[in-house]
Amino acid sequence: MTTSSDKKLRSQAWFGKMNKDGFIHRSWMKNQGLPHHLFDGRPVIGICNTWSELTPCNAHFRELAEYVKKGVYEAGGFPVEFPVMSLGESNLRPTAMLFRNLASMDVEESIRANPIDGVVLLMGCDKTTPALMMGAASCNLPTIGVSGGPMLNGRYKGRSIGSGTGVWQMSEEVRAGKIDIEEFISAESCMNRSRGHCMTMGTASSMASMVEALGMSLTHNAAIPAVDARRQVLAHMSGRRIVEMVREDLTMDKVLTRQAFENAIRVNAAIGGSTNAVVHLLAIAGRIGVQLTLEDWDSLGSSVPCLLNLQPSGEYLMEDFYYAGGLPAVIREMGSLIHRDALTVSGSTLGEHTSDAPCYDRKVILPISAPLKDKAGIAVLKGNLAPDGAIIKPSASTPSLLVHRGRAVVFESVEDLHERINDEALDIDESCVMVLKGAGPKGYPGFAEVGNMPLPPKVLRKGISDMVRISDGRMSGTAYGTVVLHVSPEAALGGPLALVQSGDMIELDVPNRRLHLDVSDEEMERRRALWSAPVRPARGWYKIYVDHVQQAHLGADLDLLVGASGAAVPRDSH
Ligand code: FES
Repeated sequence: MTTSSDKKLRSQAWFGKMNKDGFIHRSWMKNQGLPHHLFDGRPVIGICNTWSELTPCNAHFRELAEYVKKGVYEAGGFPVEFPVMSLGESNLRPTAMLFRNLASMDVEESIRANPIDGVVLLMGCDKTTPALMMGAASCNLPTIGVSGGPMLNGRYKGRSIGSGTGVWQMSEEVRAGKIDIEEFISAESCMNRSRGHCMTMGTASSMASMVEALGMSLTHNAAIPAVDARRQVLAHMSGRRIVEMVREDLTMDKVLTRQAFENAIRVNAAIGGSTNAVVHLLAIAGRIGVQLTLEDWDSLGSSVPCLLNLQPSGEYLMEDFYYAGGLPAVIREMGSLIHRDALTVSGSTLGEHTSDAPCYDRKVILPISAPLKDKAGIAVLKGNLAPDGAIIKPSASTPSLLVHRGRAVVFESVEDLHERINDEALDIDESCVMVLKGAGPKGYPGFAEVGNMPLPPKVLRKGISDMVRISDGRMSGTAYGTVVLHVSPEAALGGPLALVQSGDMIELDVPNRRLHLDVSDEEMERRRALWSAPVRPARGWYKIYVDHVQQAHLGADLDLLVGASGAAVPRDSH
């Protein structure tokens, strides 16, 4: 293994020069009170921080960064914290996903353009994790992930409520007339009551688990609550470890191998993880140069059982998960489903970290012999309605709806849905298939989490809580239902979804992985001749994004960002 003694650190191209340029690089840094010896050739560690008061899930990251710095100093490194674009899921419109690739560019260029030898990624809220992983992967320096940790369990009227999942449940109860709006609003301050990200197994917790399963963090990164002092210890130890990683030249590509992605896909099934992990892992793989396809999700993960009894698939929350043993206990339980010799950032293998991992609560982490759900991974559907694929999470679906033929009720946009869904005159019942267009990467734009459409009140009043829903959008990781997502190509690109009309018959057959629109080819051609593409944005990021974003089955990255550029030192500016 190469060591720093035989490989010159890239930061020395800035700080190691005894000329005008070196003077400029060091002198301005010294205005922060930094002593001269910090520029002596020790590893410079960039702490990539997504702190923002507009990203409440990451609002504690300035403090967390201080613990990373302690570890970096302790190991003989030089920490430098820098901000990157932060993506707050609960505030950003039209959707935080519109900005994932933009934030990843910020991360990539900030790392490459600066005197940095190794990187610590501070990430938490949904899109911050993939954005930072993608950007860092394009640079491929030694890199370690530190997640911000989940919030404490929500507590309301003596019971646990999960962020996201509780909102969907209670808002449907309001629409069904079961609870009033005052009770709904009173749950606000009880649901999200500590620092940290959503504490269900939503996208943030899923992606924190992916980081750990990929080997990109120290053990227990996924589940330690944000307010638990052991989260700060993890940050401290990660700061120590990244300095060693620079000395060992342990770059990201040595950890993010095909084996690592296979492990992550299977772990996502075993934890009942988010459907959003599909697009994020495809995009990260694309950056680091690992061949990963949408079909891999089905062939590798669909038969894996769910071992974790966490909302939205089950009952408990992330705090319970940590106390039960965390992700190492799940990975140990997965046995031969895991490549145990996959390398992690610790320098040891995933198997070494998990082979003795204890489980303290079998109600939360179930044995593989008696799982929470069988065959819990993502199923990939194909057919004339989704030639390039669509996905469904059977474990979050109603079993009796997994094979279903129904009459389409089409909504041309989210606005159309909101305008008509509460109309008692809407011609719809529970046997219908709800279809939403215009929610894909180019169409929304930004690939919104609107696929779990609300059900019509007249269906809810019958006590029915699920219907087949199909869209080119995504779904919150905290949501559930028989929801077909990520239909590709999307409607805005003229995919077959664009041509569906209310009254058409649609067949969903998950066991046979089929999504079929029962309309003749001739009729589809007739409709296609009448179809016109939506007007594209004219300027700025929206234009760049819509012109270059790839379809869902490829990970929705920009075509010009796939692949990596490494971290060669750019030319000087002086
Ligand atoms: Fe940030 Fe859920 S809103 S993780």
